[in-house]
Amino acid sequence: MTDKSQPSTTRRGFLKAGIATGGAIATGGAAHAAQEPDPLITEVQPWAQGLGDGVDAVPYGLPIEYEDDVIRRNVEWLTADTISSINFTPIHALDGTITPQGCAFERHHSGAIELRKEDYRLMINGLVDQPLIFTYADLERFPRENRVYFCECAANSGMEWAGAQLNGAQFTHGMIHNMEYSGVPLRTLLEEAGVKPEGKWVYVEGADASSNGRSIPLEKAMDDVLVAFKANGEALRKEHGYPVRLVVPGWEGNMWVKWLRRIEVTTQAIESREETSKYTDTLEDGTSRKWTWEMDAKSVITSPSPQSPIKHGPGPLVITGLAWSGRGSITRVDVSTDGGKTWATARLAQEGQDKALSRFYLDITWDGSEMFLQSRAMDSTGYVQPTKDQLREVRGLNSIYHNNGIQTWWVNAKGEAENVEIS
Ligand code: MTE
Ligand code: CO
Repeated sequence: MTDKSQPSTTRRGFLKAGIATGGAIATGGAAHAAQEPDPLITEVQPWAQGLGDGVDAVPYGLPIEYEDDVIRRNVEWLTADTISSINFTPIHALDGTITPQGCAFERHHSGAIELRKEDYRLMINGLVDQPLIFTYADLERFPRENRVYFCECAANSGMEWAGAQLNGAQFTHGMIHNMEYSGVPLRTLLEEAGVKPEGKWVYVEGADASSNGRSIPLEKAMDDVLVAFKANGEALRKEHGYPVRLVVPGWEGNMWVKWLRRIEVTTQAIESREETSKYTDTLEDGTSRKWTWEMDAKSVITSPSPQSPIKHGPGPLVITGLAWSGRGSITRVDVSTDGGKTWATARLAQEGQDKALSRFYLDITWDGSEMFLQSRAMDSTGYVQPTKDQLREVRGLNSIYHNNGIQTWWVNAKGEAENVEIS
């Protein structure tokens, strides 16, 4: 038997021989022909001459140092301080659909608090047969579910209403993450307390100073809302609501209350700050639309994009991006390279999942000329992602929230990309 853990000198010898005699092989353009000896192939490299780290070197791993630009970033001028603020997921550098917690965007109204499981309490009160208080350990004893959902802040792309502003998919579309949550259906806990017939809403609050209170119709609360304590298999990170957060599938991120402490069953919406003066859409005529909970279908090309330029010449090019809908699953994504004149249907990496991110790819042969890249999502309700102009016809220019318009990246012949708008 050969020992596969040891580098094989015969194989190195074979590769050298192959290069010497093989000459150029047409590869279609995505690989370089092995004409010139490549020292990375022909020479024994330093990493193969000694030993690597032992298994005890890093008990809990971080990404390798070469990936240290794949990080959350904030935009300093956007908020007065970093406490009531936002940072953005580096979606331009990620692939697949699951967002690692360590680089998933954060949005706090009064900072990320530290709350121990031992100190955690969740109260259900109001119009219930029996008000209840749950400890963390209590929650762990209810049957739980695992579900993947996206969470998008209603302010995602909010800077773009007045025209192209921020130069990067991370900044224009990075207030989104997509995780696998483990938790107990809110329905189970509400049934445990017994909702009285007059109960039509729940008011949910966090334990942080802002409390971020929001009203949710009982129908949604009894449907797919989760009281979650794990994300992507591990405990929620502090910044995402450790030890327990609410997951409100498909609905605006503001309703996903972190550090969840209280659920009150009420007859009516409370009309708190977060659901009146904030997270409300002001329309063209100056009036405001009451409640916009569901996040409409949206998509963005993550690469190429301003922070992820094309680094090679003409030939094979992978165009990729993300699409999602708060009303169901993504059924199709079209991609345009000419600013929306013509469209090609992209390949979905997986069948669209309900209220979760979909990854799409369009594999093209780039001729090296400039492109105006756009993507357009369609969801299981038949809804088609609108252009920014179509949105503005209804919403005017006074909006901040719920901007799901089609994004354009101008890619020049050098492969550099820029945030632009086409009208
Ligand atoms: N919950 C509490 N308790 N406090 C908050 O400030 N911010 C909300 C929501 N839940 C917030 C909160 C907003 S506006 C969003 S978009 C999401 O949490 C962001 O979740 P994340 O920080 O895990 O990305
Ligand atoms: Co938000």
